[in-house]
Amino acid sequence: MNREEKHIAVVGGTFDPIHFGHFQLGRAALAALHLDEVWFMPSGSNNYRSVLGQRAEKFHREAMVKLAIAGQEKFRFSDWECIQPGSTYTSKTFAQLNATYPEVVWYYVVGADTLHSLKYWEEPELICHAVILLVAGRREQVSDDSLQQTAVELREKYGADVRFIPWDNIPVSSTQVRRNYLEGKLSAADLPAGVFDYMEKHHLYHSLEDLTNEEILDRCEATETERQYYERLTTMLTPRRVRHCLGVMHMAMLLADAYRNVPLEKARLAGLLHDCGRTENNSLNALAHAPAGAHIARRLFGVTDEAVLSAIRWHTTGRPGMTELEKVIYVADYIEPFRGQMVNLDKARRIAYTDLDHAVSFMAKNTVRYLESRGEDIDPITLEVIDYYQS
Ligand SMILES: [Fe+2]
Ligand SMILES: [Fe+2]
Repeated sequence: MNREEKHIAVVGGTFDPIHFGHFQLGRAALAALHLDEVWFMPSGSNNYRSVLGQRAEKFHREAMVKLAIAGQEKFRFSDWECIQPGSTYTSKTFAQLNATYPEVVWYYVVGADTLHSLKYWEEPELICHAVILLVAGRREQVSDDSLQQTAVELREKYGADVRFIPWDNIPVSSTQVRRNYLEGKLSAADLPAGVFDYMEKHHLYHSLEDLTNEEILDRCEATETERQYYERLTTMLTPRRVRHCLGVMHMAMLLADAYRNVPLEKARLAGLLHDCGRTENNSLNALAHAPAGAHIARRLFGVTDEAVLSAIRWHTTGRPGMTELEKVIYVADYIEPFRGQMVNLDKARRIAYTDLDHAVSFMAKNTVRYLESRGEDIDPITLEVIDYYQS
């Protein structure tokens, strides 16, 4: 082993949530090799079901990994994939890691199942060139002919360096953890320190529909000031509108988290207050509630952040050249989890997670179609938005 070199193994996954099985993978790698560090690297991709609350938000998954590995020797948290906007691919991640850290020999710790499926991943040859594959397998798995055969194939086809490490597999999966948690069959001792309490504090894995308004505020880590704003909103808006505001708040945070283009705090505040101008005794037409809302947010709620006020101002029509926060609120307003009746809602949510500009034009077109079908006026700015954002 070259003294200049560092040897680092990566344990990847969604960590939704992290559990002792992940720890065991890291420890198996440490026991088998002289490694300097083991990096726990949550994947950047968002599960579609996080829209409804049934999966943890990326920022919560990250927080749980950090909590779990705190104080564990040689275990490190890596946000390498989480900070990438959009979907991440293992091949790209390791190519970037190699370029950034030329002194590091990278190992990728995978289970036997992953070795079998590797050839179907994005650019398997790049993965095999970039890392040494550490396959953690139970003893009977390692002697399994099909696994050995897969390793031989990867060596011959892609020049892969595949090494097996013994692993005392703990029969636990994130799916099982989530299920047990929702059924009340999980205790703090079943998970690495701090994780269970974190899940409870933020009401993770429950559908947002099943959470109270206050629980949604917990889920979004709302500040005391934002909780006071919420209380005030309940005196101004219908209960249904308030619920919608909470849905937009959550969705806006998911989008800001997915793209890492906007601070979560700004997305949360703008989402919560975006419809504060839509009061019951408001005689304004549907479009006028947005500029009215920006005024109310400033005068009544005391919001001074111009970026937040502008996102409230433009949330109904959008405008050409929107800021990232404006786009996030505009899109979140359409696809929040309590929206039930919108046409193409599923498609809109998927687009929103992959291309925000495309999502803006898609939703503007939907709006036009909807208004046309009802014989209502179309704001010319909506047509400008379609022109501006369609690629
Ligand atoms: Fe609105
Ligand atoms: Fe709204």
